Parts: sequence; structure tokens; C-alpha cells
Amino acid sequence: MSLQLRVYVPEHPLIKHWLAVARDANTPTVLFKTAMSELGRWLTYEATRNWLPTIETTVQTPLSTCDATFINPEVPMGVIPILRAGLALLDGAQNILPVASTYHLGLSRNESTLEASCYLNNLPDRFPPQTKILILEPMLATGGSIMMAMKEITSRGVDPAEIRIVSVVASPPALRQLSENYQDLQIYSAIIDEGLNSKGYIVPGLGDAGDRAFGT
Ligand code: URA
Repeated sequence: MSLQLRVYVPEHPLIKHWLAVARDANTPTVLFKTAMSELGRWLTYEATRNWLPTIETTVQTPLSTCDATFINPEVPMGVIPILRAGLALLDGAQNILPVASTYHLGLSRNESTLEASCYLNNLPDRFPPQTKILILEPMLATGGSIMMAMKEITSRGVDPAEIRIVSVVASPPALRQLSENYQDLQIYSAIIDEGLNSKGYIVPGLGDAGDRAFGT
């Protein structure tokens, strides 16, 4: 598959470890939640490496002045978890981005047609100029939900080049659609799996991320 967008699979042992825990069908809900939270933390850390806006200044240490770099508080940042499963990544992401605003977007998919529909939209009518957005969507499967999320977000004024997606398992159909429509987008995922089964689940994947995170 030739991809124009940039998909990063960080080579970090902690990401591999927590992915393995999340994939294991014997992992109980409470540990699955921990795994998703840790994946949210480490993938957000990787995704924000060259993305967080900084300002250069100086600080006075107890001994002297020196150059200093701070996160620029003037640039608006938002985290958008795609409900339900995206909520499982949220507290990990918020550990890295404590000052970002959180906007909830609830999307469900019709299990017969696999089409996404929106049942909750907490996005503002327009995002402030230059807003940076981190989308939390653990499973990039058929691409229906993430494409709908991208449309809702970019139609409110966000430049796709300012958006990063954190996912846990990505699959080629979703990546192909994103690639065809958003060349400047960057995606950070713990793994890319080969394919989908007839019900739209990623194989080997980790099952239904929402059900496993919420014990349903
Ligand atoms: N959503 C999930 O939770 N798991 C999949 O495998 C695909 C979509």
C-alpha cells in the first residue's frame, strides 16, 4: 500500500508492552483500562514531540540567567476523544496535555451497514485560528468514524496539518481513506494490523475496545 500521509508506529518497549496487555483476550477490564490509559499517555507523548508550540525566552536560575523554552500558552489546543472507546485513552493524553480543552464527539456505527452516525457533538461552531487538535480513536478500522470526525473538525476551521490522530490499532482501509483525503495528517499508532473481518473488526486487533474498556 502506498501511503501519502505519515503514519508513525513508535518503537517503544512500553508501547509494545501495553499493546500486548490490551490485545490479550484474558486481560480483565480493570487492567485493559490501565493498558489503554498508558497507551494514551505514551502515544500522545510521541505524537506531540514535534507538534507542541514553544516560545524561546530566558529564565533566572539561582545562579545566573539562561536560555529557556516553554510551551506557548497562546496557541489553542484541543483533545477530541471519539466516544466511547476514545475515552479510554483520554486520561493518559491529558497527563501530557493538561491545559488542552477536551471536546467530546460521540460516533456509533451501524453493525449491519458499518456506517457511522453522530449521537453527540460538543465541538464549537468554529475553532479559534491555529488550533491544534489531537484526536483519540483507538481503532482505525473501516474508516467510517474517523472520516466523519475529520469532516466535523475541519469544517469548523481546523487545518488538517494541525491535526494528529492517536490510535492503538490501525488498519489499511482506514489509512487508505485518510491518505486519499488528508495528505498533511499525521497518525500515531501502536500497530498496523493487516485486515478486517466480515463484521468490520480488525484482525488480530483487540476486539471491541469500547466493550472491553467499559466491561459491557
Ligand atoms: N472498533 C473496535 O472497537 N474494534 C475493532 O476491531 C473495530 C472497530
